[in-house]
Amino acid sequence: MLSPARIAVLVSGGGTNLQALLDAQAAGRLPSGEIVLVVASNPGAYALERAKKAGVPGFAVSRRELGSQEAFEEDISALLRQYQVDLIILAGFLSILSADFTAKWPRRILNIHPSLIPAFCGKGMYGLKVHEAALAKGVKVTGATVHFVNEIPDGGEILLQKAVDILPGDTAEVLQRRVMEQAEWILLPQAAELVSAEIVKGRT
Ligand code: GRF
Repeated sequence: MLSPARIAVLVSGGGTNLQALLDAQAAGRLPSGEIVLVVASNPGAYALERAKKAGVPGFAVSRRELGSQEAFEEDISALLRQYQVDLIILAGFLSILSADFTAKWPRRILNIHPSLIPAFCGKGMYGLKVHEAALAKGVKVTGATVHFVNEIPDGGEILLQKAVDILPGDTAEVLQRRVMEQAEWILLPQAAELVSAEIVKGRT
């Protein structure tokens, strides 16, 4: 058996998408990948607790503390080298990665976005704001998208999408939870396995 693709998950918040990846790995639904590193953009991210509980090395790299985008990305890159990472997954990661950084990882950075791209995406559209915009527009269906990351916010090639109904009376919080449960937490592990299998096959 060829060794699995080594996955780093970059996080900023609660880490429910990270948890979905960890649970998929524990359930044998990520046979081609192994989560070897978690990097949080802030030390307080609960996602780091989830990594600790799962026995996965976790680190906080703070853009504010480091003072520049270059130092921030160099620290992240040093961890990616140290853990010999093959695939980066952005799971609720709210910091921007520069074009220089993403250009070094063609088709090797995935992101989960809580809408059906190209709807409700792009600069400044993240978290609850995405669902507030969908409700304000009055769309009847939304969902989640996993896409490859390039220098354009939410602009990379789309890999997987899953639709979720918007129901009468939905608040942004209720809708966010439904999109997480019915789309994000299903799509991200599927995408991780798809790309990890591609990477492993590419080694033969
Ligand atoms: C969620 O809204 C998710 O759609 C987006 O980041 C938010 C937090 O995700 N990608 P998580 O619970 O930290 O994974």
